Amino acid sequence: VQRARAAIADLTRSVAGFPAPGVVFKDLSPVLADAAGFAAVVEALSEGFDVDAVAGIDARGFLLGGAIAHRLGVGVIAVRKTGKLPPPVWSCTYDMEYGTATLEIPADALDLRGRRILIVDDVLATGGTMAAAARLLARAGAEVVAVAAVMELDGLDGRGEVERALATPVPIRVLVTG
Ligand code: PRP
Ligand code: HPA
Repeated sequence: VQRARAAIADLTRSVAGFPAPGVVFKDLSPVLADAAGFAAVVEALSEGFDVDAVAGIDARGFLLGGAIAHRLGVGVIAVRKTGKLPPPVWSCTYDMEYGTATLEIPADALDLRGRRILIVDDVLATGGTMAAAARLLARAGAEVVAVAAVMELDGLDGRGEVERALATPVPIRVLVTG
């Protein structure tokens, strides 16, 4: 975790005014592009989790989710932005820091009933995205047992939003706040 935090501190880029005025965008792509940084982040977000599958959120959560699933020896599920998956889908529309969006998962291609899932994304901001993913997986009958993100943004109560989306409290792991 210390190596991951050091890489995040060194390599994260802050971009004021993107993607909307007033937002300071935290760009983690240099951390993920760095071999040591990526390895440290993947290790820190994987450590100790005992799950049946990892769900990565479109789009940057896919990069982490695949690597974490591989490390944990389980499969990976893509939680997609709307319009990408063939029907039938489960769909959930939500608010985020800079607009609204819709996430989807397959309604019949995967049997998620009773599967213990870790949901992964890069940034937890308002929590709308993570909460929507948790609601979708619950609707599909999965058990969300943990959520993890590289960075939680201060002052947006993303954690509260995720907690309200889950029937029972689960660990919410973030490596840094910013
Ligand atoms: C960003 C980020 C998270 C989400 C966090 O993705 O990668 O998924 O926003 O915001 P929230 O906590 O307020 O919901 P974005 O929707 O910009 O999509 P992208 O990964 O496709 O660029
Ligand atoms: N960075 C990446 N994703 C985000 C951010 C951010 O600052 N805010 C909301 N989603």
